[in-house]
Amino acid sequence: MSSVRHLAYSRLFCHLSKSKSVPKSVSSHGSQTRLFSRSSRCRTIMPAWVIDKYGSNDVLRYTKNAPFPVINYPNEVIVKVFAAGLNPIDVGMRGGYGAATMSMKRDPLKLKQSGSEFPLILGRDMSGVVMECGLDVKYFKERDEVWAAIPPWKQGTLAEFVVLSANEVSHKPKSLSHVEAAAIPYVATTAWSALVNTGGLSKDNCANKRILILGGSGGVGTFAIQMLKAWGAHVTVTCSQNAERFVRELGADDVVDYTSGPVEEPLGELEKFDLILDNVGGDTERWAMNLLKPWSGSKYVTLVTPFLQNTDMLGLADGMVKTAATVATKALKHLYKGVHYRWGFFAPCGSALDEVRDMVDAGQIRAVVEETFRFSQVPQALDKVEKGHARGKTVVEISKGGQDFEH
Ligand SMILES: NC(=O)c1ccc[n+]([C@@H]2O[C@H](COP(=O)([O-])OP(=O)(O)OC[C@H]3O[C@@H](n4cnc5c(N)ncnc54)[C@H](OP(=O)(O)O)[C@@H]3O)[C@@H](O)[C@H]2O)c1
Repeated sequence: MSSVRHLAYSRLFCHLSKSKSVPKSVSSHGSQTRLFSRSSRCRTIMPAWVIDKYGSNDVLRYTKNAPFPVINYPNEVIVKVFAAGLNPIDVGMRGGYGAATMSMKRDPLKLKQSGSEFPLILGRDMSGVVMECGLDVKYFKERDEVWAAIPPWKQGTLAEFVVLSANEVSHKPKSLSHVEAAAIPYVATTAWSALVNTGGLSKDNCANKRILILGGSGGVGTFAIQMLKAWGAHVTVTCSQNAERFVRELGADDVVDYTSGPVEEPLGELEKFDLILDNVGGDTERWAMNLLKPWSGSKYVTLVTPFLQNTDMLGLADGMVKTAATVATKALKHLYKGVHYRWGFFAPCGSALDEVRDMVDAGQIRAVVEETFRFSQVPQALDKVEKGHARGKTVVEISKGGQDFEH
């Protein structure tokens, strides 16, 4: 499926839309018909939740006058957002986490003044409908129902519309509602990047592999359990005692409760693992490496890395040098013991989402939505994510049945 994607990267700094004047748009979703009252081309502003500075939840501001996204490159699409999933990174970015690296990505030549990222729109996940396509977009057309995870240096999805590169977008699973679909892309592309690109796993080599997921009850964990089980792996999970049933229902074979004492002891009594996905961090890498099968290509992949913290604290150049030195030292140290040490990162990828979509529509993966909030409740939704103890995902419904948010 991914091979038929038309990916265009040429950069043209003009409006490159091939949209005809969009008529009253109609998209079927379930039994409902969605009506959009206005062409996106006629609009210059839209409703969104923005921040004008970094801080706690009180920096969030609802506005009806956020700038309407514009197609700047021929491979971009504008999507009307129906639902946006939230992730811990949204809480982090609200407080300025990763600001140094994101500024460099947005403005590599440092032509703009500091603070030019504001008003900033948070939200990485979305499910919605294509409203407008750039000239080189062949794989999508107006009114297609799509889902995507958006890189953190771009404007986010807590808004009525968002602009994305077509290679970040995928047709959404037909079997899911928009709210359900918005719970998956960010955690799916993160798990895909960590397990497939970094960990070397695939549907063809997972059978009977022993995988340990540290932190199985949150967004990434609940997705990773399901994907690995669909690929035939044996999955062991750590989580709180009160999440044991939840992760077993998702397919976990063995479950170890981290709240009743150090997990390294019960985990050490089990057969050793081929891969560990660490969603917890902290002191886990002190003991987790000993749980891997030595000299057999086994890997430890952690999603909790100091990369963005380093660049925030030390600036981009020094932060990157420190990061490279840290990861290289750790990788070499563990290589001597016959195991591979790696860092995993979220990577937006429409073709990975195409494969995940097929697994969802085949009934192998379900969306795990813990709680849904209305668009007017974005501060409460972020508050919930900030409090932790997730059991799946928190999702904001932006638009329901064509009736847009009125605050
Ligand atoms: N590097 C990247 O690009 C990247 C991308 C995505 C996510 N991440 C990071 O990966 C981590 C997981 O992300 P997520 O979206 O899954 O977070 P999440 O939805 O907040 O889930 C975290 C889960 O871990 C559980 N937990 C907390 N402490 C634990 C422990 N010691 N042992 C086992 N489980 C524990 C929590 O429940 P209880 O507290 O109730 O046990 C919760 O269910 C986060 O730190 C996130 O920042 C990194």
